[in-house]
Amino acid sequence: MTEQTVNSQDLLAAAPTRNQALLAWVAKVANLTRPAAIYWCDGSQQEYDRLCAEMVAQGTLIPLNQEKRPGSFLARSDISDVARVEERTFICTESKDDAGPTNNWMAPSEAHAVLDSLFDGCMAGRTMYVIPFSMGPLGSDISHIGVEITDSPYVVASMRIMTRMGGKVLDLLGETGDFVPCLHSVGKPLAEGDSDVAWPCNAETKYICHFPETREIVSYGSGYGGNALLGKKCFALRIASSMAREEGWLAEHMLILGLTSPAGVKKYVAAAFPSACGKTNLAMLVPPAALSDWKVTTIGDDIAWIKVDGEGKLRAINPEAGYFGVAPGTSERTNPNAMASMARDCIFTNVALTADGDVWWEGLTDSPPDGLTDWQGNPWSKESGKPAAHPNARFTAAAINCPSLDPEWDNPQGVPLSAFLFGGRRAGTIPLVVESFDWTHGVYMAATMGSETTAAAAGKVGQVRRDPMAMLPFCGYNMGDYFAHWLSFADSGAVDLPPIYCVNWFRVDADGKFLWPGFGDNLRVLKWIFERTESGAEAGGTGTPLGIVPAFENIDLTGLDKVDAERFARLVDIDPTLWRRELEDQAAFLARFGEQLPPELAAWQKFIAESF
Ligand code: GTP
Ligand code: SPV
Ligand code: MN
Repeated sequence: MTEQTVNSQDLLAAAPTRNQALLAWVAKVANLTRPAAIYWCDGSQQEYDRLCAEMVAQGTLIPLNQEKRPGSFLARSDISDVARVEERTFICTESKDDAGPTNNWMAPSEAHAVLDSLFDGCMAGRTMYVIPFSMGPLGSDISHIGVEITDSPYVVASMRIMTRMGGKVLDLLGETGDFVPCLHSVGKPLAEGDSDVAWPCNAETKYICHFPETREIVSYGSGYGGNALLGKKCFALRIASSMAREEGWLAEHMLILGLTSPAGVKKYVAAAFPSACGKTNLAMLVPPAALSDWKVTTIGDDIAWIKVDGEGKLRAINPEAGYFGVAPGTSERTNPNAMASMARDCIFTNVALTADGDVWWEGLTDSPPDGLTDWQGNPWSKESGKPAAHPNARFTAAAINCPSLDPEWDNPQGVPLSAFLFGGRRAGTIPLVVESFDWTHGVYMAATMGSETTAAAAGKVGQVRRDPMAMLPFCGYNMGDYFAHWLSFADSGAVDLPPIYCVNWFRVDADGKFLWPGFGDNLRVLKWIFERTESGAEAGGTGTPLGIVPAFENIDLTGLDKVDAERFARLVDIDPTLWRRELEDQAAFLARFGEQLPPELAAWQKFIAESF
């Protein structure tokens, strides 16, 4: 291993930037982590190809069949490093109260001390990559710049797909521009000789730390997704949500889609569902045959940054430039646009490998092909009872490869929003769709939503947990204050607030089968919402204690014979016994915020509870 101390003068001379703050930070990190080399990423195709070739030589990437999947690779992670690690994720604020009751907290000085000792020499023998990136269209006044330092070439390649990355961002940053420093290392190898494994990470020690007060991110020990691609959940949600609160905007775990009616009227909708609950699918929806005169286009599938424009309209951008999507369950039938997005130039992580060098996962085809290699690299058989792909296996694909990409996706002005949707994975209790009475009621519905846990986070799967606005793992400050921030948009009266809806595609019958066909058929619910938001509220609905719910005849079910009046009634049924339990659980959750809970939410909670 070579150790070196970086000479700041040398660094300055070789660097493709004159930004003093950036140069000082890179020098400081290099002196701490002592890499063998420092490399500034330019974001070019040649650079990407060279890094991928190096990763193939190292065993980190397996090239796929170039005829079936041109330009595509498979990565297999360490078995300990397959999802976000929420219990190792920290919000580091001076006061514990500012992180709130739902975040893990560390004092900034304590966190920095721990991290400094972990990062001390941790890049020895490795290249340290400097990745300038823009979250959002270059130069948009809704966008922000970050710089990630990492010792993982897999992170560099993924960031090139997921963000606008490279030299053009340094140009924009100039000599004095601001950036969010994002420091990442896969961590020291556990044992000597572990330094050239295919997926380096630290199986024992992981820290994903956020410092909202100084706008910094430091992540140690994991190479996976939201733990390592720091532009995504760490910056675009945790740090950005805190910036947004200070500056009067919103950073949300939301897809953004365009919905065009047969008459050619176009509206944009933003929707928040927890991880692995259907954002990518809804964002890329293909209408069912009976409604093929409607069109859905994709702005983003995971994150929305939303600002009030000069006319009081909420306008949204997608800060990302690619998709880090859930593979299992994705198929030509459920999401053909996602399938097309990953047809080429895609990095797959933890999927199964077919005998002819292509990829496979549960749900891709009705039955698995012979001769599969599972996500850990072992021969797979059905009899093993284990899935061939990890349930949180992912594809990393460029937005520009998505056939449903909206022509406005890169517009620096963003797109105006006509509705907000919030949804979770609930086997019962929550109806197919409910319209809130007003903004405050909608914020209450979103703040009390729950969902069954999924494989997107390490831990137990299938238990209902409260997940306000699908932001529980992603809010960078006290969620009580976050609710107040949402409510504050109604204060001035000057903001044209879109109506808020709750949806649930996941109700099941007594046999555990989904009652609603979901996927493309979700357009039927979007159509109702579209018509409700027309000035004349063209589609009808029925008042319930929870809000406005469509009657059977209000939803267009043309060509969907299996959802008859009886099944529809079960989809929108509000069961008082389940609701009394639900409201108790909501109340217990809201009580955790103590004084920080806005009184409006407690009032709505009480008002609804009185109806049951
Ligand atoms: P993250 O990337 O983790 O934030 O997930 P996401 O919210 O984008 O979820 P995604 O669209 O990838 O869907 C996750 C899983 O839910 C996949 O296995 C889908 O097949 C399944 N799913 C998505 N939409 C529906 C639906 O309408 N009905 C049913 N039953 N399943 C769905
Ligand atoms: C999620 O878990 O919500 C994801 C995947 O979108 S990750 O990038 O790991 O956060
Ligand atoms: Mn997500």
